[in-house]
Amino acid sequence: MARYAYVNGRYVDHRDASVHIEDRGYQLADGVYEVVGVRDGRLIDETPHLDRLDRSLRELRIDWPVARPALGFILRELMRRNRLHDGLIYMQVTRGVARRDHAFPTTPVKPALVLTTKNTKHLGADPGPGVAVKSERDIRWERCDIKTIALLPNVLAKQAARESGAYEAWLIDDEGCVTEGASTNAWIVTGNDELVTRQTDNGILAGITRGTLKKIANDLQLKLVERPFTLAEAKKAKEAFITSATSFVTPVVKIDGDKVGDGKVGPTARRLREEYVRFASEGEAVT
Ligand code: PDD
Repeated sequence: MARYAYVNGRYVDHRDASVHIEDRGYQLADGVYEVVGVRDGRLIDETPHLDRLDRSLRELRIDWPVARPALGFILRELMRRNRLHDGLIYMQVTRGVARRDHAFPTTPVKPALVLTTKNTKHLGADPGPGVAVKSERDIRWERCDIKTIALLPNVLAKQAARESGAYEAWLIDDEGCVTEGASTNAWIVTGNDELVTRQTDNGILAGITRGTLKKIANDLQLKLVERPFTLAEAKKAKEAFITSATSFVTPVVKIDGDKVGDGKVGPTARRLREEYVRFASEGEAVT
């Protein structure tokens, strides 16, 4: 079966999909993206993902490449063509193609839109054995709230984590606090059963999974506190976990080689994973 990509108005064979060498995304990382999870043929949290795309575009003063309802149609059409059942949809918008200059083009250019899909294994309620994380200095810029394609510090941190045998990097700011993961949000459960995750500001990406989990935690009447937490506090926590569109709720059982709690998946992360999967099973299936 051919796998399709969507590139600027056309569904093309993924192997032949390409963009211009002077696309400002390619040359200057002048663009934004979204990753929407798909489970059992259902898009997870489509509306908040498109809301965040809208915000990212506004922050960079890039126009929508197509009307928002059209993007909803393209998402579904690509899912159907690729028979995407479990995995993710990647969407990228860049400022478009122009002769290289740091400043925005002075003549109007059409923003470039690219969509691809990726199949992954079906994620269920069982979180598995948990993962290890490695701390890395957060060397990113001061607008981490914008979901831009400029991800080099995230790439380097993730690579350092992987080379040390860890799954994710936790980024540490100048105060010794964990901001977030290289591609996930970071959470801990404290000794007095408080669920803690950093507040959303320019220092982190406001994860859509994070937002949904806040509502779930509220429904479960868990005590949720949004504040910074240090790496030392995380190492002493009862539980820790990460969230993202692609990892759902994944328990963290080791930080820099030290066990979190007893080194096993804890009840809070397990419960939140179950509830998140329940939430992801709601809504209409596309494929
Ligand atoms: N990453 N923080 C960062 C830096 C991220 O890149 C992501 C998502 C998140 C979690 O956000 P959400 O819950 O909306 O997925 C937090 C995506 C999955 C990626 O880059 O592939």
